[in-house]
Amino acid sequence: MIRIGLDIGGGTGTFAARMRVHNITIVTTTMNFDGPFNSFIASRGLVPVHLTVGHRLPFSDSTLDLVHSMHVLSNWIPGPVLEFLFYDVYRVLRPGGLLWLDRFFCVKTQMNETYAPMVYKVGFNRLRWYEGRKMDRGERMNEWYLSAVLQKPIN
Ligand SMILES: C[S@@+](CC[C@H](N)C(=O)[O-])C[C@H]1O[C@@H](n2cnc3c(N)ncnc32)[C@H](O)[C@@H]1O
Repeated sequence: MIRIGLDIGGGTGTFAARMRVHNITIVTTTMNFDGPFNSFIASRGLVPVHLTVGHRLPFSDSTLDLVHSMHVLSNWIPGPVLEFLFYDVYRVLRPGGLLWLDRFFCVKTQMNETYAPMVYKVGFNRLRWYEGRKMDRGERMNEWYLSAVLQKPIN
């Protein structure tokens, strides 16, 4: 059952708003780059947290049912910072909790060489894993999206 969760880099809070319809409470992290995103989320009656991707998550161990992140976690984040974040997400998820990695992007070769080993090393199990070509910056970039649902093991 999913009751509470976190959206990392949630922009204007739309994921939290959509989950609220299902009685799921989502806290949204966002920065105020180029606009007052925290205030905007608050004006929707949702909870914003001003936190960079480099910060430790402000939750106790094994408390959240779901962590979601769309179009934020990607290869622009230095490897050790991203790995730390995955470990921290793992820490705050309850056993059986889900990490929904939505439109993570990287160069195709990084998928199998860097990021897939990284999420397995942290300890996640793979429930869904879809890869697709990212075309907005041209074919030469050879960028790919990963959308995945990963689970913290129950035991
Ligand atoms: C491209 S938007 C994605 C917004 C939303 N997830 C969506 O898909 O519509 C990027 C989000 O990541 C946040 N962000 C950008 N750089 C960040 C950083 N260094 N640390 C934490 N969040 C960051 C921004 O504040 C924004 O909320």
